[in-house]
Amino acid sequence: MSSETSENIESVLKETRLFPPSAEFSELANISSEEQYLELWNKAKDQPAEFWGEMAENLHWFKKFDTVLEGDMPNTKWFSGGKINACYNCVDRHLLTWRKNKAAIIWEGEPGDTRVLTYQDLHREVCKFANVLKKLGVTTGDRVTLYMPMIPELAIAMLACARIGATHSIIFGGFSADAVADRNNDAEAKVVITADAGWRRGKEVPLKSAVDDSLEKSPTVEKVVVVRRTGADVTMVDDRDYWWHELMEDVSADCEAVELESEHPLFILYTSGSTGKPKGVLHTTAGYILGTQMTSRWVFDLKEEDTYWCTADIGWVTGHSYIVYGPLANGATTLMYEGAPNWPDEGRFWEIIEKYQVNIFYTAPTAIRAFIKWGDEYPKKHDLSSLRLLGSVGEPINSDAWMWYHKVIGNENCPIVDTWWQTETGSIMMSPLPGVTATKPGSCTKPLPGVVPDIVSEEGNSLDDNQGGLLVMTQPWPSMLRTLYGDHDRFIETYFSKIEGCYFAGDGARRDEDGYYWIMGRVDDVINVSGHRLSTMEVESTLASHEAVAEAAVVGYPHELKGEAICCFVTLKKGDGSDELKQELKNHVRHQIGAIASPDQIRFAAALPKTRSGKIMRRLLRDIAAGKEQVGDTTTLEDYTVVANLKDSEG
Ligand code: WT7
Repeated sequence: MSSETSENIESVLKETRLFPPSAEFSELANISSEEQYLELWNKAKDQPAEFWGEMAENLHWFKKFDTVLEGDMPNTKWFSGGKINACYNCVDRHLLTWRKNKAAIIWEGEPGDTRVLTYQDLHREVCKFANVLKKLGVTTGDRVTLYMPMIPELAIAMLACARIGATHSIIFGGFSADAVADRNNDAEAKVVITADAGWRRGKEVPLKSAVDDSLEKSPTVEKVVVVRRTGADVTMVDDRDYWWHELMEDVSADCEAVELESEHPLFILYTSGSTGKPKGVLHTTAGYILGTQMTSRWVFDLKEEDTYWCTADIGWVTGHSYIVYGPLANGATTLMYEGAPNWPDEGRFWEIIEKYQVNIFYTAPTAIRAFIKWGDEYPKKHDLSSLRLLGSVGEPINSDAWMWYHKVIGNENCPIVDTWWQTETGSIMMSPLPGVTATKPGSCTKPLPGVVPDIVSEEGNSLDDNQGGLLVMTQPWPSMLRTLYGDHDRFIETYFSKIEGCYFAGDGARRDEDGYYWIMGRVDDVINVSGHRLSTMEVESTLASHEAVAEAAVVGYPHELKGEAICCFVTLKKGDGSDELKQELKNHVRHQIGAIASPDQIRFAAALPKTRSGKIMRRLLRDIAAGKEQVGDTTTLEDYTVVANLKDSEG
């Protein structure tokens, strides 16, 4: 746990403010009373099969399931015998209702261009692109990589894959060509969908050229589809690369949604773990779509007339679940914005809220801290009175950021839902119910119905209230990951071997006397940079692959905006190191992993602090990176002078 997190803990331990929802909000909410919540929660805990079976009635089934749950963690099978399609649930079913001409996706490009797709429009585009995929040889069970900007074609491509039962693997645009190649290879992707480039702060982010580089190392990929977004120059390879708009010209808009098994793989999403190799988290159709549909309705209190905006990138799980699948499965209007929050100026988000009269707004603490820094004048310039609910996700929200969000954005009038979940959980696990739960700044409050967490010691014993420990889930839930793609042993090892019979989340947490949960941060070698998970091991092994580097240790340290930033301690094979080498090492990491892993500090050191048994003392390095005068316990340190020297090394 980082030292900022421990400072956070101290401040949240003192947090006593309570913010109950207003009577008006509660009255109209989808779940509107504590009794209703408790009834659902108890039913889910005591009779999970009945509970989830009833919830699943809200989905469209081609054929109803025979059983709700077979097996127990780690190997669960949900809704066996059922036939279902996630795309059908997100699109087709709404065409049979008045929603046919309702806006499904409202899109705003960074340069200010816009596009609105009604459910009918979305259906047509998705069917056409599904036929394109088929023409390119994609069939049920194949994997398709999407490496795209935040444009409607990304959502269309996801749903088209789901429609024909191809498993999508989306790679965030901030990852490098090497990262794309690794993921293509791990998933054995057959087709890659990309764009010439994307817009970010008025500049073009090249995507197609990165795909070109990646393909030198990913032999399974046969075809590439390229959306023309910015008009950037790209090289098109004959019989391999095709323009999206050309393929869409002469293709039929009729394409039946394939009737898939409930456990058919819907998508793979790579995330960082505590070793160097990213994990391909696999989600399957019925359970995932159920989890995202249900939680969108409960947590965001989605109503038919709402305009809902989640600011995440679809390259992360938040975008998968709460821009695309969850909202669309409810027939909602979801807003999608392509670019940066500070382009053309720092008021862009508030301008968008005013322009589209956004009612529900879901963003991350790192963004909120940036808004605070940019100044209240930006939100104050805009009419934000359409907002009725605010959400937060990605890391613990510090109480200052929470209070600012509440006052300046919410006008003290909007419930804030601080949602705790993970790529692996598929959908929100703990969160206030906006019409029920009195919120405490910094707490994700209580588990949703169907979620049964506990706080345990390293030995797996349940801990009393207010004792910090490991966060686990004691019962399975439908939207949980089913495996790590191609590595079921690692799946069991990572999530189910630490605490017997439980899913181990990798977070430390405590539960207070009111049953509220407070997340204390990761307990593994994963750091959280701007709400994105990064493996310190992955950065370490990348640094170690550079010819000048003898050894590297990477830790997070508190950062005002990012939450955590990346500090690398590096020993060299020879010489003392120079500023040029620092820059070169930073570039090396950017090149190997991507801009999101770019180190904030490189510190050259003569040696790394190790225990007598040779383990790097990361805790010590964290204290040093955080600039602490007093570093933690050094009694097991082999050579104390190492620490003195490290404190002198500059960032
Ligand atoms: C990790 C999951 C799915 C959300 C986006 C990040 C941290 C996430 C919260 C929150 C405190 C949070 C945890 C978790 N986290 N939301 N509301 N309060 N911590 O997904 O990349 O899979 O990361 O993000 O540490 O384990 P992810």
